[in-house]
Parts: sequence; C-alpha cells; structure tokens
Amino acid sequence: MDKEIRKQIDQAVEQFREMLAEQYVRNERMAAGEEAGAAAGKMKTIIGLAPGDGIGPVIMDETKDVLEKLLADEIAEGKVELREITGFTLEERLAAGETVPENVLAQMEACDVILKGPTTTPNAAMGGKNLESANVFLRKKFDLFANVRPVKLPAEGIDWTFYRENTEGEYALGSRGIRLGSGAGEGLSVDFKVTTSEGTRRIAKAAFDFARANGKKRVSIVTKANIMKKTDGDFQSICLDVAKDYPEIETDTWFVDIMAANLVNKDIRSSFEVFVLPNLYGDIITDEAAQIQGGVGTAGSANIGTGMAMFEAIHGSALRMVADGIAHLANPASLMTAAVMMLRHIGLADKAAVLEAAVKKADEMLGAEMTGFQGGKTCREFADIVRSNI
Ligand code: IPM
Ligand code: MG
Repeated sequence: MDKEIRKQIDQAVEQFREMLAEQYVRNERMAAGEEAGAAAGKMKTIIGLAPGDGIGPVIMDETKDVLEKLLADEIAEGKVELREITGFTLEERLAAGETVPENVLAQMEACDVILKGPTTTPNAAMGGKNLESANVFLRKKFDLFANVRPVKLPAEGIDWTFYRENTEGEYALGSRGIRLGSGAGEGLSVDFKVTTSEGTRRIAKAAFDFARANGKKRVSIVTKANIMKKTDGDFQSICLDVAKDYPEIETDTWFVDIMAANLVNKDIRSSFEVFVLPNLYGDIITDEAAQIQGGVGTAGSANIGTGMAMFEAIHGSALRMVADGIAHLANPASLMTAAVMMLRHIGLADKAAVLEAAVKKADEMLGAEMTGFQGGKTCREFADIVRSNI
C-alpha cells in the first residue's frame, strides 16, 4: 500500500471518529428530549407551499387552487394562510450553491407545516456542486423522523400504512461516505448506515401508536437483520421491545426481500396493515406499494416531527416530462393526497375527508388515463373533477 493511501486511511479514520461522536451526541439529545419543540396551539395555521421543480409547479398550481376553494372560509376568517415559499427552484438552488438556501429555510421556519413539491437532487453535471437532496436535508434539519405513507386498494382489501424511519439508516451520513484510491477510478468506497436506540424507539412508538389509535391489529417490522446485524439487528430488537407495550397488537418480523415478494403475492398481501422499516427499505418498499396502488403518481407522504411537519408526493420531479413537453400530463393526485394528510394533521379532518373523497372520485373517473404519456389526460382535467366535487 503506498503512502498516499495510508494518508487517506488516516484521514478517513479521523472523519469516522467525528461522525461517530456526532451521531452519538444526536442520540443523547433525542433521549433528553431536546429535539425541536412541539408547535403550540396557534390561532392561525400557516401552510407553506413550496412547488419544487420539474412537474412540481404544475401539480402545485392545481393543488393550491383546490385548497383555496376548499379552505375559503378558514382563509377569510384568518385561521389559515396559504403562503408561497420562493427561491426554491433547481436553478435558484444551483445558483446559491446550497441544497436549501438560507432565505428559503427562513421562510419555511416561519410556517407551521409545509406542502412540498418534488425537488431534483443537483449533481455536478448540472453545472453546480454535488448537493445533498433537499428532501433529506429538510427531514434532518426539522427532525421529521416519521415518514408516513398510506397505500390503499379497496377493491383488493389493501389498506397499508408504512412508517418509514426518516432521519437515520443510510441517509444519516449518505453524502459523507469515504473513497480510497488513486483517483483514477481504482480503489474502494464505503458508506455508512446509522441506527440509534432513540431514533428507532420513536419511529416504532409512532407506528404502534397509530395502530392502536386506528384499530389496526398487526404491525410488521421489516429489516435485513440477518445480514446487517448491528444496525438492522438493533432496529428489529428495539421495535420488538416497544411492541411489548402494545400486547393487543400482533407483531411480526420480516426480511425486506421476502416482504418485497409478499407485496405482490395476492394471496397474503391484504393481511398486512402497518409496517415499520428503516429508511432505505422504506424508500424502496413504499415505491413498490405505491405502484400496486396505481403508480407513484397516486401516493402522498407525510414527514412528521415533534414540531414541524412536511407533506409531499412520494415521486420525484420527473424532469423527463418537462424536457418532453408533457409536464401538463402530470398526475396531481399525489400532492393532493399529501394535502389530505396535511389537513388531518392540522386538525381539519372534515376538510380532509372532502378532499379525499373528491380525489377518489377524480381517480375513479380519470385515474387509468393519467398515464403521464402523450395522449393521457391532463393535470388540469383531473383537478377540474376534484374542484367540482368540493
Ligand atoms: C422519497 C424520495 C427521496 C428519498 C429522494 C428524492 C431523496 O425517493 O421521498 O422516497 O430517497 O427519500
Ligand atoms: Mg423514494
């Protein structure tokens, strides 16, 4: 091994030492309950609307318009404000050289909840630096630890709710991996995966609390604990420990590969109810589940923390659709479904139910034709049906 590689290893060990200390302290802070404080019962709820990029502005325009109609009274009475967040486009983020520019973050911090469109993760090829994903950055920044993703297919008896851990696993240090080598593509690379006891306990508790509050009888813990013995092993055993406080709920453990198979097994899939998973498996499995529901364009997602909460579509910005001139064919059901979750979160359950029913109606009428391809129905046509049902 040459001198240069030895030097790189020394640097890597130093970096690893710092990351371990940082993550350990984060766990201690969570244990001490020092993470973001809960929002106080406010007179007015400020909803920040962050359109994002690609098809984001297209689906946000229609969703905003729908919300203005749905919440007309609340807005007039000053109980709700829809506030547009500016400076959050890919171009502006690249120009600022930041994943989420300072002034955007300040605008977000002034809101109670955020409805967010998809954001592209900039890479060096886009003329800027390799920036961290805005989703990942915001989830960590606001400590939005629970990624809640419902998937329903009533015709098949499917009613799943995924509790995806949202701040740890492969995502905690995802942009801080280590590469050793000559720089000519020769060498090795290492990324890190983090599981903390507090981080796991809080997502497990959130999943079991949801199950209990909603009359669910089963929670399935999904890991690869046979291979990732420390991180997934601990995730599984901590979840099982939390489960002891919920004796009325049946708990089972699965490896993620067979769970991926289970979800396409029509004989057994409808028997699952609530899932709790580490970050990356949650990412993958929820796309699979969304596809079963009718496509990633149909699924919404909630990122819940102790203070802030952020609601979004589960899909990406689909720059391809913009490049092909078909952004107007994007399905807004995903963002509207996220808005349903948001309305429920801020205590407007009646409004949430109205929007949910209107989206369902539009989906029944147009869903199959919302292909996102030439000849498909448009975002506007979908939204028009939603509007006429609220
Ligand atoms: C999601 C997305 C994000 C993730 C991307 C955009 C970083 O796939 O919300 O599922 O990996 O979490
Ligand atoms: Mg994903």
